[in-house]
Amino acid sequence: MCGIYCYVGKKKAIPILLDGLASLEYRGYDSAGIAYVTDKININKEKGHLSNLKNLIDAQTDTYIGIGHTRWATHGKPSKKNAHPFKQGKITLVHNGIIENYQELKKILTEYNLKSETDSEILTCLIDKLYSECHDIIKVLAKLNKIIKGSYAIGLIVKDDKNNIYGIKKNSPLILAQSDIGNFLASDIPAILKYTNKYILLDDNDIVKMNKDEITIYDSKLNILDKKINTFDGDVSKISKGKYEHFMVKEIFEQPDVLYKTYLENQNLPDLKKYNKIHIVGCGSAYHAGLIGKYYIEKYCNIEVNVEIASEYRYKNNFIDKNTLVIFISQSGETADTLACVKKVKDKCDTLGIINVIDSSIAREVKNVIYTKAGCEIAVATTKAYSCQILLLMMMVLKKDITNLISKINHLLKNNYEQISQKIYNKEHLFYIGRDIDYYLALEGSLKLKEISYIHSEAYPAGELKHGTISLIEKNTVVIAIATDKDLVDKTISNIKEVKARGAYVIYITTNSLNQESDFYDEKIVIEEDLYQPLLTIIPIQLIAYHVAKLRKCDIDKPKNLAKSVTVE
Ligand code: G6P
Repeated sequence: MCGIYCYVGKKKAIPILLDGLASLEYRGYDSAGIAYVTDKININKEKGHLSNLKNLIDAQTDTYIGIGHTRWATHGKPSKKNAHPFKQGKITLVHNGIIENYQELKKILTEYNLKSETDSEILTCLIDKLYSECHDIIKVLAKLNKIIKGSYAIGLIVKDDKNNIYGIKKNSPLILAQSDIGNFLASDIPAILKYTNKYILLDDNDIVKMNKDEITIYDSKLNILDKKINTFDGDVSKISKGKYEHFMVKEIFEQPDVLYKTYLENQNLPDLKKYNKIHIVGCGSAYHAGLIGKYYIEKYCNIEVNVEIASEYRYKNNFIDKNTLVIFISQSGETADTLACVKKVKDKCDTLGIINVIDSSIAREVKNVIYTKAGCEIAVATTKAYSCQILLLMMMVLKKDITNLISKINHLLKNNYEQISQKIYNKEHLFYIGRDIDYYLALEGSLKLKEISYIHSEAYPAGELKHGTISLIEKNTVVIAIATDKDLVDKTISNIKEVKARGAYVIYITTNSLNQESDFYDEKIVIEEDLYQPLLTIIPIQLIAYHVAKLRKCDIDKPKNLAKSVTVE
């Protein structure tokens, strides 16, 4: 999703800005732009890949201050005119977030000639108008909270004051970083690590003024704040593809290491038994990880667990009290809907975050946090972070060493499932089926496949197909059936036979102990049995999605329309 990268310092700004934007590319974007100061404020922006923008700019231009942006379209289609930065009057600005009342604001900003369809340009006009009235940009930024409905992280330059960059955030991510070569504002910590590991966390409504020599941070009452400088001590060197063709496959293969690290570094986990009720909240694959958690917590702790999609949970009656624990799962720790849910419930019950990115917004908002140790995940489609989320949920209820599990995963990773992927890649529709925990894995398998290969895929509880969806099964429709639960395998096999009888091409995923020779499948994947079964079953599922997308020549790490970090509602 939109990324912000601003720099002011001793070095030429354009290479640093372009480099910074490249490090934000993984978040997902459709256009990019920068503004930089020479004797005037210059703006370059372009639709599409960052290389299109690079081609427009002389990187050696004598400029030491600039603001940059990667845009993921919300208001207005991906185009050059809708790309950031925007300039109106004396303000040049980049924005991440959504201005919800932009239509109302537009009505009172009629003197401006708008060049785009975006809410961000309205925001630029608003700031310019307020600035023209008081000539104090800090005061203007302090007022925004009262005028704007929605979320924003902003970096801006004022024409009268070309040595400074100003920033503010509310419900959208923005961090401040300090280095020997200058100061930075960026959407996430990994983006600044090439230059510095010193960063300052901004709270909502903090206002930043920074130039090459100093940084000043104000609160909304214009008091100067003395904020802690943090040091990032993670390993940055791993943010490269290494010997792999894509980040996604690299991240799949990292799973044994990161799972073991997550296991070793989380030996004291919260006691779930003291709660009457547990809610698990997340989006996308984090929601799917929560479903697996539900299965294990209900089975081994006998506590009722509701798993909820954050964008739904935030607007409904949540039925929570002080004996409820709400667990929030998020790789990025920045997903806007999940963050809003934390804010909604945190004063009414205990909250626990299962988060990958240290010091991210959700990690800071929950009462307790446990970190997945997946390291930096770059591919939009999550793999290793999802597995680490599941491991932590399972570790809270199963107290068992994972050494055996790790060697079984390593063994499974020796197969590449290319041959099975060959059978799927030219299809346009596919079904994943399973029961109970296998259905939860089916949901993730289906999402993984559709998001990166663009094959239409649906996951169904195996027993539910006959209530409508089975009408879509015809000769050679691919059905991937998962059956790893010994109590349900026979039921699932009956459902597989129903689709087989209607011509389906069945890929059957099961365990060695349930393995049956029969004629109800066309391909079979047999996985070793384990107490931590989902962490094994997911490996072929992830690799099939990867190989199918590769055979279809898709942009695997950056699928169209998707963003890694979904910082708007
Ligand atoms: C996006 C990503 C998914 C992820 C979801 C939730 O849609 O593409 O892979 O599962 O957001 O993200 P989070 O950072 O909260 O886990």
